[in-house]
Amino acid sequence: MKIVEVRHPLIQHKLGLMRRAGISTKEFRELASEVAALLTYEATKDLETIEETVEGWAGPVLVHRIKGKKVTIVPILRAGLGMLPGVLDLIPAAKVSVVGLQRDEETLKPTAYYEKLTGRMDERIALIVDPMLATAGTLVATVDMLKAAGCRRIKGLFLVAAPEGLAHVEATHPDVEIYTAAIDQGLNEQGYILPGLGDAGDKIFGTK
Ligand code: URA
Repeated sequence: MKIVEVRHPLIQHKLGLMRRAGISTKEFRELASEVAALLTYEATKDLETIEETVEGWAGPVLVHRIKGKKVTIVPILRAGLGMLPGVLDLIPAAKVSVVGLQRDEETLKPTAYYEKLTGRMDERIALIVDPMLATAGTLVATVDMLKAAGCRRIKGLFLVAAPEGLAHVEATHPDVEIYTAAIDQGLNEQGYILPGLGDAGDKIFGTK
């Protein structure tokens, strides 16, 4: 399974700023988006391009265009919305497929309460965005959903990932590529990543 811990100095610097206790909502939100953009740059390195000739200022010129249908970004509600602006900064024409999941009281499995996918998922690359890959229960359910819709190429972008979550993805969907700014130590009893960022959703939205 492809797991990329993107150790670019800008990403490491920005993530370091995000780890400070008492960070403001404004700063956390801005940094989440900036790191998301940098992760997007890395995760889209292998997009295929096709050549075409356009009329340039000095005559015909050979250029490259990204091949195929537009990428779809898949923010997982609610915290994934905090990474969406940064991804859209780099891929402004992307389609956005929003999903929301909650734990089923009986099965304890994450099940979708909201799913609005763009069309032709079988022809698109999906970039799932969620700040924290903790147990990966939500990610696995989202990948199940995307695959059921026909999607075959799926990448996940995270600010911080836990080894437990990565192992879960590897066991269930080894074809999914993971891009993360950090692989942290692990989960505490409450399911928070240590050292992590705390509750990323609360920090992005200013709730608590
Ligand atoms: N979700 C969060 O917001 N933080 C964690 O550490 C784990 C899951």
